[in-house]
Amino acid sequence: MLRDPDFRRFEVLPITGALGAEIRGVDLGAHPDDATFEDVRRALHRYHVLAVREQKLTTEAYHQVARRFGPFSGNPVHGPMPGYDDIVEFIREPDDTGKVIGEEWHMDLAWMAKPPGITMLYGHEVPPVGGDTCFASLEQVYKSLSPGMRRMLASHTAVHSGKGVYEINAAQKRLALRPDARKGDDVEVEHPVICAHPVTGKPYVFISSVLNRFKGMTEAETKPIVDYLMGVAIRPEFTCRVRWQQGTLTMWNNPVVLHTAINDYSGYRRVTYRTTVEGWVPVAAPRELVASQAA
Ligand code: SIN
Repeated sequence: MLRDPDFRRFEVLPITGALGAEIRGVDLGAHPDDATFEDVRRALHRYHVLAVREQKLTTEAYHQVARRFGPFSGNPVHGPMPGYDDIVEFIREPDDTGKVIGEEWHMDLAWMAKPPGITMLYGHEVPPVGGDTCFASLEQVYKSLSPGMRRMLASHTAVHSGKGVYEINAAQKRLALRPDARKGDDVEVEHPVICAHPVTGKPYVFISSVLNRFKGMTEAETKPIVDYLMGVAIRPEFTCRVRWQQGTLTMWNNPVVLHTAINDYSGYRRVTYRTTVEGWVPVAAPRELVASQAA
């Protein structure tokens, strides 16, 4: 198994050629120094998805670890755990039926002006088999596009809408929702389609399951383009899959990936805790960059 030699404080083991890495040999709950957290951040910017193995986090320790990565992003939909405004509990009981939370490919809260920069999910109780989470790289989507397509997309602004998000979440009987969660139905926000990551500068295609239309175009006109991009994103060579173990802390660069929860663990219990870290207002990739890479 390949180990990334640029990381000495812990092991970084890439999952696929596209994105994702397992992290072994660090105990984030034991208050590691800033340099260790900086290395985790560096790994996250390189791999976009990290499965940090063998953590033993109480709710308080999880809260403290998360906040080392930055302030809470806010969550206009889910009701938090008692005592922890920033943590949401996702529970699936063995006899639950219907969709699992997050079953479609999506980005968390793409309809916020500042979508969360990092999402974290802690595996408190996970099935012995199944219940994996898959990720797709939006950076790889950008890289795969022709110069003409990049230029065309760079000329668009997308409208992402919170409409329907309440309904999807309300269908989950064990999920606590905020009393005003329905307000999301009225929210629309504009984001550039070709963005640049604020730290790495790398371009990515900002699509999401709540991308409603390109500004100045109808939903019907926009849909085939977004469907095409979604189809590219979930090509196997642009994805990775995290197999959970109890105590795995998975974190991802939320605006740069799509993710989906796999509904294949009927008969088993799964309990995870989610928190999110404040992100950034998505920034359009500089025209010169798109033009030069498009040349
Ligand atoms: C989510 O979509 O945030 C949940 C993913 C998962 O439970 O694997």
